Amino acid sequence: MTNLLPPTASSIHRAAQELREGRLVVLPTETVYGLGADASNSEAVAKIYTLKSRPQFNPLIVHGASISDLEKIAMFDDRAHEIAHHFWPGPLTLILPLRDQAPVSDLVTAGLKTVAVRMPAHEVFQSVLKDSGLLIAAPSANRSGEVSPTAPHHVIDSLGSECPMMIAGGQCRVGLESTILDLSEADAKILRTGAITADEIYEKIGVHVSYATIPDEITGKVTSPGQLLKHYAPSIPVRLNAVDVEPDEALLAFGSLKFMGVRGGGFAKDLPRDQWMNLSDQGDLTEAATHLFAYLRALDQPQFRAIAVMNIPNQGIGLAINDRLARAAAGR
Ligand code: TXA
Ligand code: MG
Repeated sequence: MTNLLPPTASSIHRAAQELREGRLVVLPTETVYGLGADASNSEAVAKIYTLKSRPQFNPLIVHGASISDLEKIAMFDDRAHEIAHHFWPGPLTLILPLRDQAPVSDLVTAGLKTVAVRMPAHEVFQSVLKDSGLLIAAPSANRSGEVSPTAPHHVIDSLGSECPMMIAGGQCRVGLESTILDLSEADAKILRTGAITADEIYEKIGVHVSYATIPDEITGKVTSPGQLLKHYAPSIPVRLNAVDVEPDEALLAFGSLKFMGVRGGGFAKDLPRDQWMNLSDQGDLTEAATHLFAYLRALDQPQFRAIAVMNIPNQGIGLAINDRLARAAAGR
C-alpha cells in the first residue's frame, strides 16, 4: 500500500529522512507531482529510472531551496541570476553549464555538460529541501510516456503498488510542467513551453528568447532528450481542433459549447455527462492548463474511440497547452 501522508511537519521530516537514506519520495510541486531522489546519490537516482521505465539518456531536473544551493552544481552568469531572481521560486527550469566536480550523479545529467535546475514554489517541496539539506532530482511522478500527475490519485493510478511514500499537497496550481529555458549558450532558447513564456521573460528582464522545441523535433535534432514528440500519451487517440464530435468520441472542450455539434445530429452539451469535460467554460487559459492532464486522464476510457479536443488559442500559456496536446495526439 502506498504511504500517503498529509502535508504536516512530521511528514516533511520523514520525507527528508527517506531521501537522505537513499529512498524515493513523491512530492507536490506547483507544476506537477515529482518523484524525488537525492541528486548526489546514484543508487537513489537509478531507482527513479527503474520505477518510471525511463530511457537512461533522458536527464533529470535538480530542485534546490535557493539559488546559492543550486550554484553548487550549476554556473549562473548575470543573465541567469537576473532571471532566477525574478522568476524563482516558480515554474521555470534553467539549463546551465555544469560546475566542475559538481556533487550530482551522472545519471541526473545523463553525462551532459549542462544541468537543469529549478527552485519549486510549492511549500511542501520547499520544506523538504530545507529539512533534508539536499538537492533533489525529480521528474514527474508517472511512468514514462504517460501524462504528468497533477493530483495524488494520478500518481497512484500510474505507479500502483510500487508508489513510494508520498506527501499529498492537493491539486497542482499550474498543472503543466515547468518552462525549460536553455541558458547554456549565448542565445536563450525555450526547450519546453510552460506557464512562463518568452514574451514574459522579455518584458520583465529584457532578454530575447526563442522557442526551440518544435523546430528541433521537425529537423530531427533533439536538444532536450525528453522532448521527443511522443511524450504525453493517453491510451486512445487524440483528435485536435475538433469543430464537432463523433457520437463515440469523448470531448475535451474549451469555452462555450453552444455551437459544438455531434456528427449525425444533436449538440455536444446534450451528450451524456461523462462524455465531455470543459477545460474552462469562460475560456480562461490558466484555468485550462490546471485541468488539462486531469481531464485527459478522466476521458481516457476504453468506451470512447478517441478524445476530440476543441481549438485552444495559441497565446500565453496556450502555447504550452497546445504543445502538450500535440504530443498527446502524436503519442500513439
Ligand atoms: O515541472 C517540472 O519541471 C516537473 C516538476 C516535478 O519539477 N519535472 C519534470 O521533469 O517535468 P521531467 O523529468 O518530466 O522533465 C525534465 C525535462 C526533460 O525533458 C529532460 O530532457 C530535460 O528536462 N532536461 C534535463 N536536463 C537537461 C539538460 N541538461 N539539457 C536539456 N534538457 C534537459
Ligand atoms: Mg515527465
